[in-house]
Amino acid sequence: MHKYQEILEARDFIMNKTAHRPTIGMILGSGLGSLAEEIVSPFKIPYHEIPHFAKSEAVGHANELVIGELKGKTVVVMKGRFHYYEGFTLDEVTFPVRVMKALGVENLIITNACGAINTSFNPGDLMLITDHINLVGTNPLIGPNHDKLGTRFPDVSEVYHQGLRHIASTVAKEQNITLQQGVYAWWSGPTYETPAEIRMIRTLGADAVGMSTVPEAIVAVHGSMKVLGISCLTNMACGILDQPLSHDEVIEVAATVREKFIKLVKESIARM
Ligand code: HPA
Repeated sequence: MHKYQEILEARDFIMNKTAHRPTIGMILGSGLGSLAEEIVSPFKIPYHEIPHFAKSEAVGHANELVIGELKGKTVVVMKGRFHYYEGFTLDEVTFPVRVMKALGVENLIITNACGAINTSFNPGDLMLITDHINLVGTNPLIGPNHDKLGTRFPDVSEVYHQGLRHIASTVAKEQNITLQQGVYAWWSGPTYETPAEIRMIRTLGADAVGMSTVPEAIVAVHGSMKVLGISCLTNMACGILDQPLSHDEVIEVAATVREKFIKLVKESIARM
């Protein structure tokens, strides 16, 4: 668990740099960072300048916080995130979520690129996350609990807030955007899954699989934030089609959803 003091130091650093006071946070996944370019009067802070932030070097990710206005709301956006597979601790992975909460963020939109397991889905579809399965065998809340941050045993019966899901699915219908719904399974990576692992994960009840999101969502719920999870299904999971997976393909497909992804998220933000 982070020292409470470190969270406050990061928060104060950001608040001293900008007069923006965000109430909506966003974590942009692989290939989805262009949403940050929509922000009006953006103020950018590289992660490495923020006290106690880890330093990320993942391929396909920028590494900065962008704070500004979107659809009349003040937002703070993580352009690029910290992944467990990069060797970061879950404290490091989730520290920015704690800082967003301290900044005043109430709604957190978590996005990712992931593989589709449900065979009625197609690469290039967006998916509203309805629930998750933690397959990684660890949890970001392991360690002493800081009561100022949240309760020891958080209820996770509704990690992905029903009201926010309703907003996103309403917007998708209105805008004629296909928005699948399903359960996201967290896989540590950095290997993709084997075909046998995908058969297992499907049997366990997941519709999609990816290497992020779940730790951040758990910490957000611990901090009583409302979470909206949106996945970009960049590929059919391993073994579903007879073809190997590549990171280049993931980034390429994520880039093709740019327009509908931006429309969906912006209009959802307008209604939050
Ligand atoms: N598996 C895990 N993570 C991913 C995938 C996948 O198939 N595609 C994009 N991220």
